[in-house]
Amino acid sequence: MAISTPSPSITQAYTMAAEAYTARNPTSRSIHTKALLSLPGGNTRTVLHYAPFPLSITRAHDATLHSADNHSYTDFLGEYTAGLYGHSHATITTALKTAIEKGLSFGSQHEDEALLAQAITIRFESIDLVRFTNSGTEATLMALAAAKVFTQRHKILVFSGGYHGGAFSFKSGVSSPVNAPHSYLIARYNSLESVRELVEQPENADDIAAIIVEPMIGSGGAIPASRDFLQGLREIADERGAVLIFDEVMTSRLYEGSGVQGVLPARSRPDLVTLGKWIGGGISFGAFGGKREIMEMFDPRKGGDSLAHAGTFNNNVLTMAAGRVGLEEVFTPEKARELHERGERLRKELNGVGGGRTLMKWTGLGSIMNVTFTTTPIGQIKCPEDFGEVVAGLGDLLHLFLLDRGYYMARRGFVSLSLALTDEDLTGFVDAVREFVEEHKVLITQD
Ligand SMILES: Cc1ncc(COP(=O)(O)O)c(C=O)c1O
Repeated sequence: MAISTPSPSITQAYTMAAEAYTARNPTSRSIHTKALLSLPGGNTRTVLHYAPFPLSITRAHDATLHSADNHSYTDFLGEYTAGLYGHSHATITTALKTAIEKGLSFGSQHEDEALLAQAITIRFESIDLVRFTNSGTEATLMALAAAKVFTQRHKILVFSGGYHGGAFSFKSGVSSPVNAPHSYLIARYNSLESVRELVEQPENADDIAAIIVEPMIGSGGAIPASRDFLQGLREIADERGAVLIFDEVMTSRLYEGSGVQGVLPARSRPDLVTLGKWIGGGISFGAFGGKREIMEMFDPRKGGDSLAHAGTFNNNVLTMAAGRVGLEEVFTPEKARELHERGERLRKELNGVGGGRTLMKWTGLGSIMNVTFTTTPIGQIKCPEDFGEVVAGLGDLLHLFLLDRGYYMARRGFVSLSLALTDEDLTGFVDAVREFVEEHKVLITQD
């Protein structure tokens, strides 16, 4: 994916929008200035930074965020998929209050961890046994380590544009300098040919420990994998004796809420799965799990032969309590299916705005989507490289436009729906996008 230089008219429109934003949000600006004193760039989570300065949110309920400048926003970001339940779901809040009243940080095992683990193994077909971590990044770290020990091999096959956490990022086909130092082979997403090319090289052939894949590339632009691709990966992993890992940190909410693996035939399922985000009910969470023979390496009853897996807060009482009621009582398969279908309808409507003749391409699956400004027809986007040349500046302009209209989404165009959003919210969002297209027609209409 290449980014063009913004045209003078886009730059001019953006400058005006940024000036209006700055005038409207003086308190957020001064909080950002304060943060600059002690945080690099005033930031401790890169994805939350955007120009001219990010909004400061003070409180939230249901699907509404309130800013330090007393503006309210309907939340279409949904905390990058972790905010599935909205901001104040009664069942989750009650479970958290009850847990707090019983006390924090026991330094012991407790029943809720067994119950959440059970709910996960029931929900996710590929998970016989599971272990908890504090984030999706840590889940990746442990899943890859497990695959390497299990296979006694070294190399990890990943995909260009893939993201498996802060230490596992492969934007534009490059391993980030802050990545965990594994030996990576980077293939093209949705291309079995590119995978075969790599695994057949003599130096790789017998040394692939794991293939890790997002069943839909999430932060790389919401591009779903085809079923044939996932099935093909299963076959290649089997041929090569590699562990197939599905990173379902984002996609676990799709379809019936049992991930993409849940709608695949048994023969296509992975050996290991990583989870995170929403499953913690809004509290920090990660998990890795899968086949018994791999996960049993972590059984401490084996004594010196077992693999250690530590983490002070792995079974923290808040996550375990919120996660369990969320899975068992709130995000039932029926609710998941409904949310998935709402997302499908919304994406279709958004792609129809402007008669479908704009540069705006809303890709995604179910309740997760992303807009990219490109001339590539949606049907031809199979991997991040297919976005071709992205028209710079239009995404930034859309972001500021929607904030001005009271809709909160990611600067990079990412949207994930929560259960708290109403039909009116969805209609309002589409109307605001339509208004954007009307106002900036000259800039974004495709000939
Ligand atoms: C697909 C995927 N895997 C892993 C992660 C890492 O999760 P965390 O941010 O909890 O470390 C993310 C986070 O965005 C993700 O999208």
